[in-house]
Amino acid sequence: MNYIYQNPSLTPMERTLNLLSLMTLEEKVGQMMQISYSMVNPTEAEEWVSKKFSGSFLHVLGDNADHLQELALSTRLGIPLIFGIDAIHGHGLLNGATIFPSQLAMSCSFNTDLIEKAGRVTAKEVAADGLHWTFSPVLCIGRDARWGRIDETFGEDPYLIGILASAIIKGYQGENLSDPNSILACAKHYLAYGESTGAKDAYDTEVTVRKIREVFLPPFKKAVEVGCATFMTGYQSIDGTPMAANKKMLKGILKDELGFEGFVVTDWNNTGSLVSNQKVSPDIFDASKKTIESGNDMIMNTNDFYDATLEQVKKGEISESLIDEAVKRILNIKFSMGLFDGKKRRGYVSKDVINCVEHQEANIQLTRESMVLLENKNNTLPLKNIKKIAVIGPNADDIQAQFGDWTFFSHPNPSPDAIPNFEYYTMLRGIQELASSKEVEVSYHKGCDIMNKEDIDIDGAINSCKDADVIIAVVGDCLALNGEFKDRATLDLSGSQQKLLEELKKLNKPLVVVLVNGKPLSIQWITQNADAVIETFNSGTLGGKALAQILFGEFNPCGKLTISFPYHSGQTPVYYNHLPGWHSPKYADMPVAEPLYSFGYGLSYTNYEYSNLKLSKAICSKEDTITVSVDVTNVGESDGTEIVQLYINDIVSSVMTPVKELKGFKRVFIKAGETNTVNINLAISDLIIVNADEEYVVEPGEFEIMVGSDSRDQSLIKEILTVK
Ligand code: BGC
Repeated sequence: MNYIYQNPSLTPMERTLNLLSLMTLEEKVGQMMQISYSMVNPTEAEEWVSKKFSGSFLHVLGDNADHLQELALSTRLGIPLIFGIDAIHGHGLLNGATIFPSQLAMSCSFNTDLIEKAGRVTAKEVAADGLHWTFSPVLCIGRDARWGRIDETFGEDPYLIGILASAIIKGYQGENLSDPNSILACAKHYLAYGESTGAKDAYDTEVTVRKIREVFLPPFKKAVEVGCATFMTGYQSIDGTPMAANKKMLKGILKDELGFEGFVVTDWNNTGSLVSNQKVSPDIFDASKKTIESGNDMIMNTNDFYDATLEQVKKGEISESLIDEAVKRILNIKFSMGLFDGKKRRGYVSKDVINCVEHQEANIQLTRESMVLLENKNNTLPLKNIKKIAVIGPNADDIQAQFGDWTFFSHPNPSPDAIPNFEYYTMLRGIQELASSKEVEVSYHKGCDIMNKEDIDIDGAINSCKDADVIIAVVGDCLALNGEFKDRATLDLSGSQQKLLEELKKLNKPLVVVLVNGKPLSIQWITQNADAVIETFNSGTLGGKALAQILFGEFNPCGKLTISFPYHSGQTPVYYNHLPGWHSPKYADMPVAEPLYSFGYGLSYTNYEYSNLKLSKAICSKEDTITVSVDVTNVGESDGTEIVQLYINDIVSSVMTPVKELKGFKRVFIKAGETNTVNINLAISDLIIVNADEEYVVEPGEFEIMVGSDSRDQSLIKEILTVK
């Protein structure tokens, strides 16, 4: 039989409404179900499709996904399943796919083009695998480095997060959702999830609605504006209301106020958690009702939602119109992406794209630009006139630590013994390959373990440094200390890494420290004692290749930190865009007030000088857009790319506003000895604040306009702008 909804020349919404009118209540509630393939057996999975008409699965790959899709297409109405996957930095759950640097690492490139490209590459590889939807990007604000999921954020700045999120969403979704290479993006975790008290994942957040609007909502607003198809509800609660039951935030702000038209998926068992952990519901019936009434549309991995909801709709306790509303959103997206028209089946996009040469090229470019040179005393780097390098340290040859969270090593089930079936570059391999082409000898010794304090071999490490002209020590963290469920109480180097470094220092050879880790660690000793320091975070498949190019000067580093590094764990949370304080900014037992490294900071093999800051208009109205221009001179001897940053400060405002806020940036390539005039537009409407009545306003008055190479006062030159 031919149904109207099968006609591809109708609009997605016309088709949706027709299909909805044909569906039974069971079929409708089924569409709201997202089943985790790893939590059911194959027979149960089949039953979810053929008997309960589930709309979606997550974490299912390959033939298993194909089989379930066949089953779904053979049901009465043939509604295709939508398959979701955590393709967080590349399609990493598939052994063989391109693995990019983590979100935190890639954010340090400030490169929207390359980040969009990473999204596109990921989309192609996910689509080639027959899947439709990535649970990415993370738009949480990374303020407290102890939080386990800092690696998944784009750092600490709401403006930058919004810009980078828009880029990657465009990459995932392409021009059109129905393009065979496009997949759905998912903005998560809505809202203020990263702000849990004490950096403990999924706890209560201490935020007010005003602060939510000013700090946490803007990146999500941007995601709505660029058409992000789906949102994910966070685990945490705000002021005692779990997000999954937060009607004010989900239905009120996201759907009614921001006009989000896609659908909202809960996070993993959020509905069940209202009963078992957060205890705002006595049973699954109440929890299901709350979940629906608050504005969630699809339910991830709470399988008893199905019966509980059916029963309540039948009894008239849940309005069927709410079910219709949720299903309408889900089906509209399924139609929009061409799922009903066979476009998104495995085989439609050739598998040859997976980790193809073009994708590796995109990856190496992004990886190089993601690395941040933190120290370079006496121009230790790039390496020159050396005959032997000693590579030491637990993360020099550890691809799992280098990948970080969200790859086949950790999800859906931890598989520490998995063997990558593709070419990858640990730091050691990258150094060895490039060194051998330059006839430089390389020795290697692990030295110690990341976790086990007893596992240390100082003699072996020291012996390996014999005759070396330089020591490259690769330290950091590992999957046991980084990722979801891995919040930390301290950010100190774990195991015996500190001791190892201190012993290496005693050799009085140039010491280059390379950090392979998910987050800022407390590295004061390293700052003071190493001759050069490079932060690589979790750099993905080609990390070692990119690092070697930087070490040997084949690439001039240009990454800048998007998250501040604390001087000491006790200084967390520490971030540049804080509100002004009053008494001493210092702790009594810490010598400095500032973070060890601030947002926006990063060195290069050259230096830049800023001068001649000008505003196209110094007195303007709220409707204006002005151009801020500055001359940037490359005063060193190497060509380089500088990330020019524009900050503002609202000098007097009705509520306190941050001491500085990023409002623009530009990446510019400048040849040695040359000067570029860099123009950055600033819309006065971007000077908006949220006042005490929770209204969005631009308040007249004076604003400091600051431009420079990072967020520290000493790096910025300033002008005053007056808004009338
Ligand atoms: C995480 C989400 C993720 C989901 C599915 C949850 O535990 O919080 O970010 O997308 O699992 O894997």
